[in-house]
Amino acid sequence: MTKGNSTKITDELYAYMLAHNPPLDAVQRELVETTYARLPDHAGMQSAEEQAPILAFLVRLVNARHVVEVGTFTGFSALAMAQALPADGKLIACDVSEEWTAYGEEAWAKAGVADRIELRIAPALDTLRAMPAEPHIDFAYLDADKDNYIAYWEELVPRLRPGGLIAADNVLFHGRVVDPGATGAPAAIRAFNEHVVADERMDSVLLTVADGLTLSRRR
Ligand SMILES: C[S@@+](CC[C@H](N)C(=O)[O-])C[C@H]1O[C@@H](n2cnc3c(N)ncnc32)[C@H](O)[C@@H]1O
Repeated sequence: MTKGNSTKITDELYAYMLAHNPPLDAVQRELVETTYARLPDHAGMQSAEEQAPILAFLVRLVNARHVVEVGTFTGFSALAMAQALPADGKLIACDVSEEWTAYGEEAWAKAGVADRIELRIAPALDTLRAMPAEPHIDFAYLDADKDNYIAYWEELVPRLRPGGLIAADNVLFHGRVVDPGATGAPAAIRAFNEHVVADERMDSVLLTVADGLTLSRRR
């Protein structure tokens, strides 16, 4: 194994990276600040700041019109993706918490993209299983309960159009993914990563972005 030119990300480099990415807009920034102020015990679940422009970039890259988000929390990642959609695009946002997603609904309205987002409050597996079975999804963001990642994957892959993408978050699980004795969420992510790399329907790359982000493209 060689690490080639891999760069260790210091705090200074992290700030430099953020400064050389598209900045958050006012609504995105306010939503991040509100989440940390009102939900300090849960705010760490929010996707990292640099993931907003990455998700927007990917939505545009595949010319997405149909997006699915599994795990919405206070709506930060959904906001970034919806803003990157065309006006007639649709994002189906899956979550079980009315309380947390209410912050998102407020921000989506403020940003003028509420009409592009359909919030489905239900276990995400039920929501996914109720979707049309044929390939129609252009982009999906997987960021909910880790125990169900493989089940979500199995619902999403057949519904992805060829060339469509899945982005799966937390695939390094705070570094705990390398522990073979891990139980619970890191063990579920370990199993998910094995599942993804063996799936011949998809081309996948695991990126060391934020807490680990796997990008997979339907062949
Ligand atoms: C990591 S957070 C999502 C963060 C969000 N993508 C963001 O960037 O702000 C995970 C979310 O998954 C939701 N969740 C957990 N189990 C779920 C399930 N079975 N079905 C749907 N959502 C679920 C939680 O309520 C929580 O809001």
